[in-house]
Amino acid sequence: MSKKIVTRNVSVIYRGKHDREPVLACNGIDLEVEEGAFVSIVGPSGCGKTTILYAIDGLLSINGGEILVNDKRITGPGIDRALVFQSASLLPWRTVWGNITYGLKLHNGLDQERLAKIQSLIDLVGLRGFEKRYPSELSGGMQQRANLARALAVDPDILLLDEPFASVDAQTREKLQIELTQIWQRTQKTMLFVTHDIAEAVFLSDKVVVFSARPAQVRETINIDIPRPRSLETKLSPVLQGYVKRVWNLIDAPS
Ligand SMILES: Nc1ncnc2c1ncn2[C@@H]1O[C@H](COP(=O)(O)OP(=O)(O)OP(=O)(O)O)[C@@H](O)[C@H]1O
Ligand SMILES: [Mg+2]
Repeated sequence: MSKKIVTRNVSVIYRGKHDREPVLACNGIDLEVEEGAFVSIVGPSGCGKTTILYAIDGLLSINGGEILVNDKRITGPGIDRALVFQSASLLPWRTVWGNITYGLKLHNGLDQERLAKIQSLIDLVGLRGFEKRYPSELSGGMQQRANLARALAVDPDILLLDEPFASVDAQTREKLQIELTQIWQRTQKTMLFVTHDIAEAVFLSDKVVVFSARPAQVRETINIDIPRPRSLETKLSPVLQGYVKRVWNLIDAPS
């Protein structure tokens, strides 16, 4: 399978304002994400997960190494990538429809075909009937669905997701996990997913990348050999629990 995202020896340093010490967030990250794969990154809080995701999106410039998308070195954001933020980043003054179509107007305009695609996207994320609602009229889970639809609307090859389910309740979260795998299988996007929730990472992924404490380095990459489709029963299975334990031990282990 061809490599969709490759990071080679990527380092990111935040230069502090005024006379603060610079912070080395990522220290030589090597990552490979195959086309169409679902890969998760886990690691201690503050280790540099969001940083590497933003760097891959092109929002942050890197201080060492290189990032390749489709074998080409990236120089900034592109329509081949879309980022889903942790917090609901919907525009409060726009409806669901307005939020989802916002980026599109900027990128490629809206013809009939495009409109039909958006409607099917709204169906895909389960928001049919809520197109005219404002974000404040939606539950947390629905806001995340709208967020997801907004990212998918530009039809990127790659979705970069930064703890997209962190702020929803446990039950909604499980539902969204199942939905996300279905969306992934239907759309065949390449997914790079950051989460604190190890069971979530194992459940969703083909591969889980474990980061060390800051400055982040790849501690280990674990292939998740669990057949698909996976269900909620899969989540309780001893095989999955075994992987979870393994990842836990890695995160916990002294560096
Ligand atoms: N703009 C910034 N300026 C200075 N330091 C920063 C900046 N953004 C992040 N950092 C620091 O870089 C490190 C990595 O941050 P990052 O947000 O990537 O961590 P994370 O792994 O996503 O954490 P979490 O799991 O809590 O979301 C942290 O120590 C953080 O304090
Ligand atoms: Mg983060």
